Amino acid sequence: MFKVDMPLDELVELTDLDSLVHYLDEKGAVGSSYVEGADSDSSSAFGTSTSTTPSTPPDPEYLNPKQQWQNGTSKSVESEILDLGPHGIQDAFSRIRLDFERHAAQTGATAFWSKVYPDLNHVTTGFVCDAYRKLGCDLSTVKAGEVVPQLTKALPQHKHLLAQLQNILTDSGLLELSGLGANQQLIRTTKSVNSTPTETLCKQFLLQYPAYAPDIKCLQVTAPLLAECLTGQKKPAHLLFGDARNFEILATFYAKSPLLDAACRMLAEFVASLPSFARNNGPLRILEVGAGTGGTTKYIADYLNRQGVEFEYTFTDISQALVNQAKKKFKHHSNMQFRTLNAEGTPPPDMVDRFDLVLSTNCIHATSSIEKATANLLQVIRNNGALCVLEVTKNIYWFDLVFGLLEGWWLMDDDRTHPLAPASFWDRSLRSAGYNDVSWTSGDTEEANTLRLICGFKNERPGFRQVDGVSQPQGRLIKRAGIPVEEVVFKSIDGLDLSADIYFPKEADPPGKKRAVGTYDY
Ligand SMILES: C[S@@+](CC[C@H](N)C(=O)[O-])C[C@H]1O[C@@H](n2cnc3c(N)ncnc32)[C@H](O)[C@@H]1O
Repeated sequence: MFKVDMPLDELVELTDLDSLVHYLDEKGAVGSSYVEGADSDSSSAFGTSTSTTPSTPPDPEYLNPKQQWQNGTSKSVESEILDLGPHGIQDAFSRIRLDFERHAAQTGATAFWSKVYPDLNHVTTGFVCDAYRKLGCDLSTVKAGEVVPQLTKALPQHKHLLAQLQNILTDSGLLELSGLGANQQLIRTTKSVNSTPTETLCKQFLLQYPAYAPDIKCLQVTAPLLAECLTGQKKPAHLLFGDARNFEILATFYAKSPLLDAACRMLAEFVASLPSFARNNGPLRILEVGAGTGGTTKYIADYLNRQGVEFEYTFTDISQALVNQAKKKFKHHSNMQFRTLNAEGTPPPDMVDRFDLVLSTNCIHATSSIEKATANLLQVIRNNGALCVLEVTKNIYWFDLVFGLLEGWWLMDDDRTHPLAPASFWDRSLRSAGYNDVSWTSGDTEEANTLRLICGFKNERPGFRQVDGVSQPQGRLIKRAGIPVEEVVFKSIDGLDLSADIYFPKEADPPGKKRAVGTYDY
């Protein structure tokens, strides 16, 4: 920001933007750095509006087809295929990508990290201490400074989980690491073990945070039996999926946990908005991968039905048993198909190039390689379509006490150290897999950056570049009054792009030279 004092007689001479630019240029106040080689002397762009210009000219075919849907005039012809147009799906995603907080306020997912998580972690730590005690290591009796013994009774297949249990205890302050490499040992600290029974901690948590009942109930399916699962006396998969009541607890968690619910609402709004970007009125073709209990499926299908969106939904999972359950659960939905599909395998030929949108919530992290799985899924996506995954991109410890007991949680054989990877890892993987554009949801809060929708688009967006997961229109360099100017879109409000012009000096500055930056609002 700079401040230029202008005498009034000089100011009245400045009748337009160009004369102001000239004036500032003469005072040495214009610009920051010159973009070499990107110059274009476009006199036709001279005088382009600098206030609010839509970056993409509105295509008459895009205009309000949603109204046609709502008015019931859409044709439901099986052979007609939804044409999302070259930018339709990207535009739809960019409209919802900052909406997490709005949904979180409705589902009670605000302040998860600052308020809820610390208490949830006390419960998690309580369950880990209980398991240690059952396996012969009572941390309340190990003296401060003593080495904490390894849990030798645990099966070797749980080595990742055991390492994570140590992280939980270290983060809670009960243990600390000492030594390096092979000499590393876990030492008991002076912090006391909470003597309140863990089941009581669960009840207290539930009373204080009733909205998180789906989370704590899910944790209670396996965590009280953590020691038994680690030694093989209990089968975690059987506990989670083999018992009808627990299966329902899982389904409720995926659909109703406040964080997941907020992300699911965002996903539903994204999916439901797609027909309004379409060039014709074919049904939206959706494939869900790893659809599991059908929690997301039910949410999305119900939402689309309420919105009057015409769609075909293919429910898939690697597990035939889960597909069979889904067939029963959704038997009244005539627009649904049910099949097994392994994201780690080549898709069957009849699925290739078929879907507008591939959805997957909390599944692709459970594959050995995010890049390979998403490359397989790219094959089933039609031109202009996308993959949209709902994933947790930050470690939440209690998940490990439930899902970390399953072999599938730790399959990763890429560069991940934990199945839950940050958005930057997804970005790299999707691009390597062949997606031409990648974007993800984010926001100002830690919650918004924990549960994300990550989209890989089959087509690139011409004239756009990626900045922090956002497709930004690439600045257009023109000359105005002989001065290089870059037009950039700095914000989008309700689909309307707000542009700004950046004026550069005529000659490139020597490297490292700093200039003041000025703003001019009008
Ligand atoms: C965490 S659950 C998904 C939750 C699901 N969104 C729901 O609402 O129930 C993960 C699902 O992915 C499935 N899965 C795991 N690996 C898979 C793979 N390679 N291909 C397809 N599905 C897979 C599992 O069977 C499981 O149902």
